[in-house]
Amino acid sequence: MSMECEVKDLALAEKGRNRVEWAAQSMPVLNAIRERFHGGKPLQGMRIAACLHVTTETARLVQTLKGGGAKVHLCASNPLSTQDDVAAFLAAEEAIPVFAIRGEDRGTYYRHIHQTLAIRPHVTMDDGADLVSTIHSDRRELLEEIIAGTEETTTGVIRLRSMAAEGVLSYPIVAVNDAKTKHLFDNRYGTGQSTVDGIIRATNRLLAGSSFVVSGYGWCGRGIAMRARGMGANVIVTEVDPLRALEAVMDGYQVMPMLQAAKIGDFFCTVTGDIRVIRREHFAVMKDGAILCNSGHFNVEIDLEALGAMAREKRQVRDNVEVYLMVDGRRLNVLGEGRLVNLAAAEGHPSSVMDMSFANQALSVAFLAKEGATLKKQVYGVPEAIDQEVAALKLAAMAIEIDELLPDQKKYLCSWDMGT
Ligand SMILES: NC(=O)c1ccc[n+]([C@@H]2O[C@H](COP(=O)([O-])OP(=O)(O)OC[C@H]3O[C@@H](n4cnc5c(N)ncnc54)[C@H](O)[C@@H]3O)[C@@H](O)[C@H]2O)c1
Repeated sequence: MSMECEVKDLALAEKGRNRVEWAAQSMPVLNAIRERFHGGKPLQGMRIAACLHVTTETARLVQTLKGGGAKVHLCASNPLSTQDDVAAFLAAEEAIPVFAIRGEDRGTYYRHIHQTLAIRPHVTMDDGADLVSTIHSDRRELLEEIIAGTEETTTGVIRLRSMAAEGVLSYPIVAVNDAKTKHLFDNRYGTGQSTVDGIIRATNRLLAGSSFVVSGYGWCGRGIAMRARGMGANVIVTEVDPLRALEAVMDGYQVMPMLQAAKIGDFFCTVTGDIRVIRREHFAVMKDGAILCNSGHFNVEIDLEALGAMAREKRQVRDNVEVYLMVDGRRLNVLGEGRLVNLAAAEGHPSSVMDMSFANQALSVAFLAKEGATLKKQVYGVPEAIDQEVAALKLAAMAIEIDELLPDQKKYLCSWDMGT
């Protein structure tokens, strides 16, 4: 058993082990990398602080890093996303110092971040940039030993780019989110399926025939809209970017301002990475029984403070559902405290898609072990070769073959002189 950890209950370890084994069956790319790491030990001696959603797939990533020779400390990247059985398994059976308990308060969340940083990392792995921002504001003494870091999600990358632009980022970061084999699949198909899954698990309401409002038509929003439509919902998209809005229109959705959508929506799901997307004026006109949730990284997209102030009472009516009773008698239901609904009320992305995201994480860390010291204090994309390799490994695991360019096709595709 690990000497130091803070998890809910170590007795949950067996359940966690079974669930991690189940996830591993759908993670062939990461499994292949794990075998390679076992042989070559590319991370020998490396200390990694990881702040990620503590899920079955993350456990598989941590096993892979450890197999590659790294020491890993792990904490949660969201107070409501921890799977307590997985945390117990990693602590009890893999000797990983894990600091994560589902439902932890803000103080505990940050204490866990500090406990994770006690490893004195060479590499940080973030999902939302809370490790990087804590290091830069409170733990600057750690900067001396840090070589580089990785970032998993859109919101984290935005925060880090803004640090780099202000000249305050003190070590290089690889933006795993920006790999094509990450955001095109994880954000779209992963968030699409798991968000709808979270909504259904929390509410058991019928989507068919409902009006389902998706705020933000980025990679995640496209996935959620597509899956909600697949369940028979009439999907309405709200956007602030004309291009994305136009794309939603041509994809066949209704597009309108939130103030208009607020009056007709049965379900609302924000996924913008922005603050106060649904706020006072919208709550004021929503229908009785409306269901509100968020799948963006932070719990800032639905203005719950304003909703709380407008409501005369708030109470929990089901697991992961709180009803806000409005003064005029309407009931507005909020799922998972406005935190990422796919992790709060379901299990997060299916393993098969996290396979690619975490393959990018593992290969990016190996890249940083080799090249990190030569990089500038900037945000870098995942090297193209890694992206290509992950896609090729995934196709191979699915037993799908594709054509190869013939020599004359290769030549044609980079020439200009051959016309009609
Ligand atoms: N739930 C999950 O598991 C999960 C997975 C991946 C990413 N994320 C998070 O989801 C969020 C979105 O990620 P993405 O990759 O789709 O980002 P993206 O940048 O591709 O898309 C965000 C979209 O939101 C729009 N937007 C911004 N402010 C808005 C507003 N006030 N009203 C309406 N639209 C607005 C933007 O124009 C953009 O089109 C981020 O916070 C990201 O970190 C969550």
